[in-house]
Amino acid sequence: MSLIEEIEKRKTFGIVSHPDAGKTTLTEKLLLFGGAIQIAGAVKSNKIKKHATSDFMEIERQRGISVATSVMAFEYRDKQINILDTPGHKDFAEDTYRTLTAVDSAIVVIDVAKGVEDQTEKLVEVCRMRKAPMIVFVNKMDREGKDAFSLLDEIELRLKLRVCPLSWPIGMGQRFKGVYNIYEKSLVLFMPHGKQNEDDGTMLFEDLSDPELDKIVGEQLAEELREEVDMIEQVYPKFDKEAYLKGELSPVFFGSAVNNFGVKEMLDCFVDIAPNPLPRETEERSVKPTEKKFTGFVFKIHANMDPKHRDRIAFMRICSGTFERNTNYLHVRQGKKMKFANPTAFMASKKSILEEAFPGDIVGLYDSGNFKIGDTMTEGEELHFKGIPSFSPEQFRYVNNADPMKYKQLEKGLDQLMDEGVAQLFTKKESNRKIIGTVGALQFEVIQYRLEHEYGAKCSYEPLNMYKACWIKWTDAKAFKDFQDRRRNDLATDKDGNLVFMAETAWALKMAQDNHPDIEFFFQNEN
Ligand code: G4P
Repeated sequence: MSLIEEIEKRKTFGIVSHPDAGKTTLTEKLLLFGGAIQIAGAVKSNKIKKHATSDFMEIERQRGISVATSVMAFEYRDKQINILDTPGHKDFAEDTYRTLTAVDSAIVVIDVAKGVEDQTEKLVEVCRMRKAPMIVFVNKMDREGKDAFSLLDEIELRLKLRVCPLSWPIGMGQRFKGVYNIYEKSLVLFMPHGKQNEDDGTMLFEDLSDPELDKIVGEQLAEELREEVDMIEQVYPKFDKEAYLKGELSPVFFGSAVNNFGVKEMLDCFVDIAPNPLPRETEERSVKPTEKKFTGFVFKIHANMDPKHRDRIAFMRICSGTFERNTNYLHVRQGKKMKFANPTAFMASKKSILEEAFPGDIVGLYDSGNFKIGDTMTEGEELHFKGIPSFSPEQFRYVNNADPMKYKQLEKGLDQLMDEGVAQLFTKKESNRKIIGTVGALQFEVIQYRLEHEYGAKCSYEPLNMYKACWIKWTDAKAFKDFQDRRRNDLATDKDGNLVFMAETAWALKMAQDNHPDIEFFFQNEN
């Protein structure tokens, strides 16, 4: 197959949701349609149990499984579909944000009873920043929930998505009869725990005024459906693929993942409309997937679970050209050539060594400490892919060495864990003290545990009252000197030596911004 055919075959996306909306269940069902049944059971366990946030075995187990389920590829209707897993737990949101830099589109899962939740809002915001087209799946229609129209209002208002329903529920909860597929003009009848096959319960229904409808779903629901579909046509825009691809219109589907209902309709539509691998921006230029020369970037690093090997797996998204095994490529940041004897594919249920990979694919590279998140690989060109954010952490602690004999191990451990993106390390300018900043509290425990078990080092924490760490930029050297002189105690460097202002309170930040208008403050550092 030619490179263009390979590109046209691929669709790489992520599913985002607030925990418990049904992301895992939906992923599992999608894999079933792709015939990747073996892995489906494993997906289920890829989340930290609700009440086990400080159970380290659970964290370890989750890390183990998530190597296997970080990327799940399957074939469906001659397309290769790559699902990138995004942790739902909010303490791992940063990992999710980074993973979303490697997708071309997203599916947003919403619980019909709970509606739009906090995480949904944040993750949709990230997808919007990346202009990733989104399809919405309203889940759990077998339960009582919000009225479909009010839910769509909520989605438009809180998620700021222009929506266009492509299926419409007939009843809900106990009365749930199925959906009317507006996209294909067909009626799909609900069968609990059904294995929806090609024609199971699906019938073409071009004309809703057909009295046959009353016989099938009952007079009252038939009448409701007619009115509602009428209303949809008046109120919502017609589906427009171009608008969807620009991220300006989101199709909405209704279903029940656990019952495997409404999933196939969405998948079929996804395969029809979701974008193929898209061009990606570097600091230097835009890179098209069809370019002959290979380029890619690392968006995730995972420590290997095997304690005998210190290896890690770097997840690289291929952006252009063909990646080949055992071929020398340039590691741009390090300025050195590297080749990979065992690049891993994540096809269906098993990991396997791949010979070549194409744009949109995710390749696992065994790494002994060469990579960090955001690294670019090319055939020689000095490119730097943009858009992998380091978010301003929200929780801070001083980190101390708790075992003076193991200083080196602590340094190495912290260094590697930061490369993995578990947290961010800042060094205070004045005191040289080290501060760890994280998005969630769970990371502190993860770091302590992993330092001890993987590096033989011990650390202790000291509480620190801190509001935000902001990266700063300036053009006026005098203004910066003035800022530095006055704020010396609040300055630190991040791991790459960039200057960071550590604001103790929101007020302190505001004061700094007001008093130093020539200094720019950033809440995320784009790599
Ligand atoms: P997540 O990955 O988004 O966190 O959600 P997950 O798929 O794990 O689903 C959360 C819970 O919602 C699960 O129940 C799951 O079975 C249930 N669920 C998913 N889809 C549907 C649906 O369409 N209808 C209904 N009624 N429930 C659904 P659980 O009790 O937490 O787990 P389990 O013990 O049932 O597996």
